[in-house]
Amino acid sequence: MGRIFQRKNRKGYYLQVAVPRELRKELKTTSIVRKLSNNKSESFSMKKEIEEKIKKELRDLKNKNLLDKKESYKDEYDMRIDNLYMKFNHEYFQKNLVLNEKAMVLSYWHCIGHEADFKEKNSYQIVKFFNLEIIIHNYKGNLWAIENSCPHRGTKFFNTNRGNSKITCPYHGWTFTPDKAFIPRKDTFKDEKLINDARPKEWKIRNINGLIFISYKPLFSIQEQLGDEVFQIICLIGESIYQNYSSQDIVFDSNWKIAIENALEPYHISMVHKNTLAPLGISNGQNKLYDWASIFHDKIKSSKLKKTKRLFEKMLKIKFDFEGYWSLYLFPFSMISSTEATTFAHQLYQPSPKLDSTICLTKLWCMEPNNKKYDESLKCFYKSVSETNLQIFKEDAEICSQINIESWNEKPLNFESTLEIKINHFRNCLRKSDKLVN
Ligand code: FES
Ligand SMILES: [Fe+2]
Repeated sequence: MGRIFQRKNRKGYYLQVAVPRELRKELKTTSIVRKLSNNKSESFSMKKEIEEKIKKELRDLKNKNLLDKKESYKDEYDMRIDNLYMKFNHEYFQKNLVLNEKAMVLSYWHCIGHEADFKEKNSYQIVKFFNLEIIIHNYKGNLWAIENSCPHRGTKFFNTNRGNSKITCPYHGWTFTPDKAFIPRKDTFKDEKLINDARPKEWKIRNINGLIFISYKPLFSIQEQLGDEVFQIICLIGESIYQNYSSQDIVFDSNWKIAIENALEPYHISMVHKNTLAPLGISNGQNKLYDWASIFHDKIKSSKLKKTKRLFEKMLKIKFDFEGYWSLYLFPFSMISSTEATTFAHQLYQPSPKLDSTICLTKLWCMEPNNKKYDESLKCFYKSVSETNLQIFKEDAEICSQINIESWNEKPLNFESTLEIKINHFRNCLRKSDKLVN
C-alpha cells in the first residue's frame, strides 16, 4: 500500500510506494516517490490511479526480468548440450529435434490418401501427426479437412481413426459443415459475433487426379514441392486408382524417422524379408532424387512375375505402367509403391508424441477391371497381396523396434552404401527443412 506524505520545506503532497525486494538492487531504491498535487483533497482522489500506475510499472519490470532470466537459462542449457555433444561425440547429447518436426508437419503437403478411400458420404479418416489429429471428411461428395478438436472446449469429434459420421461433437452437440455451424442453445452465449464465428481449425486440401494432399500453412505450392516430373507421376497414379481394397494401421515401436529410413533402402530385404520380399529378387535398382521426393525402381527378372503381369494386363486398366518394383517417397511421411503396376500401396508414417512410436497407415489401392467377369480372380489376388504386404510391414516393424533412437542423427550416414542413398537424401531433406521452418 502506498502512503501520502508531505516533505520538509516543499509544497504539496507526495505518494510513496514500496519497491519489491527483488527489484531494489536494480532500481537502487526501496521506494518510489511521486508528487500528486498541492491540494490535499485532490491528492487523495488521485492516489489510487497513480499508485496503480506505479505498481504496473514495477510488475512489468519484474516480468521482463523473469523472461530475461529464462532466456539466459535456455542459452546456458543449449550451450551445455553443445559442449557435451562435442566432448563425447555421442548422440546421447543431441538436441531435441521435435520442435522443428512439428513445424515441418504444418509446412509441407502430405499425401494422406485417395478419394477412393472416401467413397461414401460422411466417410472420414483421421491422420495423426504428433499430438495433432486431422479429420478428412466427405461432405456431400466434397472433401474438407479440419482438426479433431471442437472449438467449444476441445473435445475430439471422433475417437476412431476411420468411420462414417457427421461432424458433431459428442459433448454439447456442436455440429459443423464446410460452411455452416449448428450450436445448441446459441441464445445463451453472450458474445453473438464470437459464437457466430466459431469454427474448427481448417486445413488446406488439394485433389490431384484423386490423390489427396493436406497442409496447414504450406511453404510451397504442391507443384513446387513435388517438382514437375513427380507431379506428372502423381497425376497418373491418381488417375489409375479405382478402389480402396484395404486400410490398416501398423504400430511401429520406433521413431518415425527410423521407420522411414527402413522403407527407403533395399539393403535389408535378404535378411529381414527372407520369405516375403526377397524371393522377388529385388537388387541394386536405380534411384532418382528430387528436391522433396525420391524414387527407387528395379526391374525384377522373375519369369513367374512376368507371366502374372501378362495376365493382369488383360484384366486391368493400367495407366501408369512399369516393370518390376517401384517405390516413390514423398517427404516427409508418405510412400507409394507397387510391383508391376498392378496395385499400389500407400503408407503414411504418422509420428507420435512418444518418441519411440509410429503408426503406419497402409492402404492397398486397385485399378479398374476391364470386365466384371474378372472380379472374383482379382479379389483373390488383392487378398494375397494385402496379406503379404501386412507380413512385410510386421517384419519391418519388428526390426525397427530394435533400433535405438539415440543412435540416430541428422548427419549423413557414417557408412554409406549405394543401397542407402535415399537415406542420405532423406536426412538432407530434414536438414533443409530445419532451415526453412525456422
Ligand atoms: S466441447 Fe464440443 S460442443 Fe462442447
Ligand atoms: Fe522392409
